[in-house]
Formats: sequence, structure tokens, C-alpha cells
Amino acid sequence: MVGLVQQPIRIGMIGYQFMGKAHSHAYRDLPFYFDTPLKPELKVIAGRNEAAVKEAQARYGFESYETDWRKLIEREDVDVIDIVTPNHTHLEIALAAIEAGKHLIIEKPLSMNAADAKRMYQATKKSGVKHMICHNYRFAPAIQFAKQLIDQGKIGRVFHYRANYLQDFIIDPDFPLVWRLKKDIAGSGALGDLGAHSLDLARFLNGEISELTSTMETFIKERPLGDMTGGLSAKGSSDQMGEVTVDDAVAVIARFENGALGTFEATRFANGNRNKNKFEINGDKGSIRWDMEDMNNLELYLHDDEAGEQGFRLINCTEEVHPYAGAYWPAGHIIGYEHTFINLMHEFLQGIAEDYQPKPDFEDGLRNQLLLEAIEQSAKERAWVKVERV
Ligand SMILES: NC(=O)c1ccc[n+]([C@@H]2O[C@H](COP(=O)([O-])OP(=O)(O)OC[C@H]3O[C@@H](n4cnc5c(N)ncnc54)[C@H](O)[C@@H]3O)[C@@H](O)[C@H]2O)c1
Repeated sequence: MVGLVQQPIRIGMIGYQFMGKAHSHAYRDLPFYFDTPLKPELKVIAGRNEAAVKEAQARYGFESYETDWRKLIEREDVDVIDIVTPNHTHLEIALAAIEAGKHLIIEKPLSMNAADAKRMYQATKKSGVKHMICHNYRFAPAIQFAKQLIDQGKIGRVFHYRANYLQDFIIDPDFPLVWRLKKDIAGSGALGDLGAHSLDLARFLNGEISELTSTMETFIKERPLGDMTGGLSAKGSSDQMGEVTVDDAVAVIARFENGALGTFEATRFANGNRNKNKFEINGDKGSIRWDMEDMNNLELYLHDDEAGEQGFRLINCTEEVHPYAGAYWPAGHIIGYEHTFINLMHEFLQGIAEDYQPKPDFEDGLRNQLLLEAIEQSAKERAWVKVERV
């Protein structure tokens, strides 16, 4: 840190709820842990509701606020646009930000469909701005370490990639019809909200998926109308009902380009599972498994261990040797959900400072969106679908 000259980089954030809080916190905390050449300055935050955005401005520590996102993008004192609004707004905001030459962080899924995602990806390719999509789970130290082990061949040839992302926050039929349950705002349901993360981890750890088949279900077809902007703990507020137009759950069988078989399940109806984002990978030399609800630990099984001593070992990924972990606390002093965002923002700012394109980027966002679309198509047609290549 001594002698480090830091240049300010000015952040303009659009949206301020769940992800707005996670991203603002990450920018604020980042300089505590990383010697990045760029120091985030929380310049301006935008939202449509003036009282609410003013509250967010004060709480998160932004210098100013706007009630029109277009004004935020036009501002010359902003270098980075951070998009944390619902999915149907991503295309228009991202294209405007790219047009204005701003660097870009966007929440997942990239957009509403593959056609829009392609437009966004093409726009970044022409522009030269740096861009990232916020698949934050990649940035848990245990995930980065799993990637190292897999690339070193520790588990050998992969046979199976098995992932579930299980939540239970909408089991109650009185849970209101928030934006996440409307196709014209969210694009899809459990698929794009949860499945998108599992698919990103699968691509990161095991490569591309070539073809797949799937089935989807909407268990509760109508819900009370309420505050569309409510989050995961929204409460019903009306006797009037509206139609749920997205999937509540999805199951997928897939084939990877490396010959592995994949199974994926994403649901918001798995009672007792709050945020169980987990996977297991089985290879000919061993297996790896991880569970977000125990995110500091990675489980590793090695087939060549002594007979009688074989079993999954638990690796607490908090040592200096584990990616990102050394930036935080001494070994065994665990980190949490919010640190995945800090690590991601660190990667983003390094990319800008050193002029490389950090990953995952809009290309990953597009590949992810092509998978989401193939899954929806397969469920609709009750058929196997080949995944479009980029
Ligand atoms: N990386 C992750 O793990 C993760 C987790 C949750 C959400 N997300 C993504 O982040 C984005 C925002 O999700 P969130 O959970 O922060 O949402 P949220 O419901 O908590 O907040 C949405 C924000 O967008 C604003 N908004 C603008 N237009 C809106 C509209 N038409 N309807 C409702 N709100 C509108 C709201 O006022 C609010 O500020 C989405 O793309 C979502 O998929 C990612």
C-alpha cells in the first residue's frame, strides 16, 4: 500500500435495491483489501422513486442521485455504469452506456433473450469499453481453487457435472407477483434467476455445453398483485390476482463438449433450501463438490489416496494459496457472500487499469443467454436442442 498512487474511478449506479446494496458495498470495501491502482468513487446513483433513491444515496455513500438513468449516463463525471435493475431494462441502458463510452458492469442474466444479448455483445466488441457480467459466485475463493485443481488434472477426465440451485422463497401462495414472476420483465423465472448462475459455473469449470433437453413447471399460476419492486421477502398486499408468467422450476439434462454429462435443477420451491447453490463434479481421478451455504469449504476426493483412507477431504479455502483469500484475514477467518462481489469488482478495476478484458464478460453473458434460450425451447418442444455457438 505504501507508495501506491491511486487514481479515482467514478461509479454511476442504476438501481439500488438488493444488488445495488451488494455492489455499492463492494466498491466501498475494495480499497480495504486490494492495492488496486483505481479507487472507486461512488459518484451518482439513479432510481425512479426520488425518496427511495435519496435514501439509498445517503446509506450507500453516493455523492449525488438522479431520477432519470439517461441523465446519469450523460454525466461527464462518471467513468463506469453499473446496471442493477430488472432484466428488461438491461438492453437499453447497456447500449446507451456503451454508446457514451463508459465501462460497464451488468447484473445477470445479460438480457431478456439471445437476440438482445447478441446486440449487447456486438456493441461492446465495437466500442473498446471494458465490461463484466456479475456472475459473482465464480469469485468465491473455493470456486477459483476448484478451477485450478480441475485445470491441473487433479480429478482427471470429467464424467459428470451435477448442479442444483435451490431456493424456497415463493412457496407461500400469498407471496406477491413481484417483477421476478413476470416474463415481460424477468425473461424467465428460476431458470434465469438461479439456473443462470449454475450454468455459468459449469461453463467456467467444465467448458461449453453442446446440447440439452429440459422440462419446466409453474406450480402456482396466480398470485396477489402487490409492489412489483418487492424483493425476496416481499409481502402480498391485495385481493386481486395476477398471472405468473415464468417457470417456478426447471430440470435439464445436458452434454458437454468434453464428453461429460450434465444435470441441472433450479427451483424456488425446494422447502428448507434458502440459497443452496451447489454442484458435484466426478472425474476418473477424483471428485469435487461445493455448496454456497458453506462457501469457504471445498470438498475433494482423490481416487489414488491410500485404501482405507479414502473419502472426501474438507479444504477450508482461507489460506494464502487460495485465490483472493490472502487479501482478507488470517487462515480460518472466513469470508462471506459480499466478498464474492468485492473480488469481482477488483478483477473489473484491474482490467480497466491494465487494459485487459476481465471475465466473465458480455461474451459469457451471451453464451449463458443462448443456454437459457435453448432450455426454454427444449421444454416447449419436448425435444433435445443443440446450443448455438458464438
Ligand atoms: N448476482 C446475483 O447473485 C444476483 C442476485 C439477485 C439479483 N440479481 C440480478 O440483479 C438485477 C436486479 O435485481 P435485484 O434483486 O437487485 O432487484 P430488486 O428487486 O431488489 O431491485 C430492483 C431495482 O430496479 C428498479 N427498477 C427499475 N425498473 C423497474 C421495474 N420495471 N420493476 C421493478 N423494479 C424496477 C427498482 O426500483 C430497484 O431499484 C436483476 O438483473 C437480477 O437478475 C443478481
